Amino acid sequence: MTDHLTIVNHPLVQHKLSLMRDKDTSTSSFRRLLREISLLLAYEVTRNLAMTTRRIETPMEPMDAPVLEGKKLALISILRAGNGLMDGILELIPAARVGFVGLYRDPETLQPVQYYCKVPDALDSRMTIVVDPMLATGNSSVAAIDLLKAQGATNIRFLCLLAAPEGVARMKAAHPDVPIVTASLDSHLNDHGYIVPGLGDAGDRMFGTK
Ligand code: URA
Repeated sequence: MTDHLTIVNHPLVQHKLSLMRDKDTSTSSFRRLLREISLLLAYEVTRNLAMTTRRIETPMEPMDAPVLEGKKLALISILRAGNGLMDGILELIPAARVGFVGLYRDPETLQPVQYYCKVPDALDSRMTIVVDPMLATGNSSVAAIDLLKAQGATNIRFLCLLAAPEGVARMKAAHPDVPIVTASLDSHLNDHGYIVPGLGDAGDRMFGTK
């Protein structure tokens, strides 16, 4: 993956995203759509994984069959909304190792503060996919990736549902080596750091909170 930003313009992705944006979409539909769309986004973010071959025998004859190379992927969810994207991806990549990073925004400094971090071992030899539905200011994704790099991760990709230009620019400045895959690059952030037109608070919409 060479482009810093990939927008998945697949008709199914765009259709499902429009349904998710609609404020009248129920929590249960939102969750189902998120799971469905996450499978399609996961397909894109894993498009060029390294491959090798393994000698197998089909009922007909032996062959060198293509299989994924190297250690199992690491999927890292940025709590809490990342978990909604993670569920679908795990259906597609059930053997992946899973980690969680929890960050909150300090009300005075507005900087992200870590309150939880549990990640798989050997990040230096795994492809690491960080998931968070909303790339808004980019503060939490940059902080989460700082943390993963400090734990040894070198091959990182970032998967989100929606991105704001501000978040993409912040990520590109801080982590130019981390490609971003998203379903949409929206217009801008509002004064409260929400993506416009966006879909509102992703965590609230997937978990039915306010
Ligand atoms: N987080 C959200 O859930 N929604 C936004 O629009 C921005 C950040």
